[in-house]
Amino acid sequence: MSMFANSYEGKRVLLTGHTGFKGSWLTSWLLKLGANVVGVSKDVPTQPSMFDELKLGSRIKHIQADVRDLPAMREIIAREQPDFLFHLAAQAIVSESYTDPVETISTNVVGTMNILEALRTSTRACVAVLITSDKCYDNVEWEWGYKETDGLGGKDVYSGSKGAAELVIRSYLHSFFQDDHPVRIGVGRAGNVIGGGDWAKDRIVVDCVRAWSEGGSVEIRSPHATRPWQHVLEPVSGYLALGQALAERRQLHGEAFNFGPRAEQSRTVIELLGDLSRPWGFADSDSAYRIVDNVPFHEAGLLKLNCDKALFHLKWESNLDYAETIGLVGDWYAAFYREKAEMFSVTLSQIETYERAAAERDRTWARS
Ligand SMILES: NC(=O)c1ccc[n+]([C@@H]2O[C@H](COP(=O)([O-])OP(=O)(O)OC[C@H]3O[C@@H](n4cnc5c(N)ncnc54)[C@H](O)[C@@H]3O)[C@@H](O)[C@H]2O)c1
Repeated sequence: MSMFANSYEGKRVLLTGHTGFKGSWLTSWLLKLGANVVGVSKDVPTQPSMFDELKLGSRIKHIQADVRDLPAMREIIAREQPDFLFHLAAQAIVSESYTDPVETISTNVVGTMNILEALRTSTRACVAVLITSDKCYDNVEWEWGYKETDGLGGKDVYSGSKGAAELVIRSYLHSFFQDDHPVRIGVGRAGNVIGGGDWAKDRIVVDCVRAWSEGGSVEIRSPHATRPWQHVLEPVSGYLALGQALAERRQLHGEAFNFGPRAEQSRTVIELLGDLSRPWGFADSDSAYRIVDNVPFHEAGLLKLNCDKALFHLKWESNLDYAETIGLVGDWYAAFYREKAEMFSVTLSQIETYERAAAERDRTWARS
């Protein structure tokens, strides 16, 4: 099977935020696709982490640097000369944006500006995919899907920082990346995802599996909230499809794309926890989780993405149904906590499963 038309094979691919959750999945997939990966992150954000468990530091060129450091970003991009750049580094936790708004804004807004600034003076061809979030949209609490042309905004600082990053990208595009500039830029907007290897704070799946692995139960709030549970490989496949398409077609330069889940994947938190906890063999649901009525900060209502643009221009669609998504998540954590398996192989085999599902569903990027 040839994936993404072999666009990444033998290519130099620079990732920021490679030690994080999405970054570790993207690094693994790029390695499977035969890319030479260079990663830039300021730290390894969690303990344990997918990055360490998969020993990714020894499989790629790992650089420790802060995206807020402009001279460092300039120097790294000039030296590494990437063919592709995926910018994922961010302060990505909403609750942290309440405790440290300055860190959130400087990382997410100034960090993005620094990547653009380093690319601005570059004279070498490079495709850059910049990752923001579905939270960049002004959430007007309506029931329709948000389109790429809808207004930007954000009531909490994390969301505002992602909206602000989008405005910075837009102004840089109009001011500097026109005509025959060698750099092509695309923007990826996706929502919350689940998957093995996530140990970030305040994420429901990891709070649960961590507690269950220690024989405890978890407290949950908003048990009846409905969420479209999307596997991390879905938006990551979108970022890769966008990179490929930008390399092939200059007309896509400057465009933003939503990568959202299907509506049929929606389930309540309670249903998700019931399905996830089953393999852990609890006698009843009470021993797996307790419902508490304590919402610590404002959380906006569900924001749905309209993904027609990604379907039209990239032929991108999400692949997995709810059962397949939960299966991959549960299997990954079971392999880690119970089987003490070699997690790089487990991760590559999950990517293989995902690629096969995409090929069976005749996704363009998975066609040989
Ligand atoms: N996980 C999700 O559900 C989700 C949803 C929507 C958007 N996103 C976006 O996707 C991207 C990746 O998210 P994630 O969940 O993998 O995040 P994560 O918290 O797991 O990882 C963050 C990464 O950014 C790096 N980083 C943070 N501050 C940095 C700095 N100042 N300089 C250099 N590196 C820095 C960390 O070292 C880490 O590698 C982010 O841009 C995030 O906003 C994530």
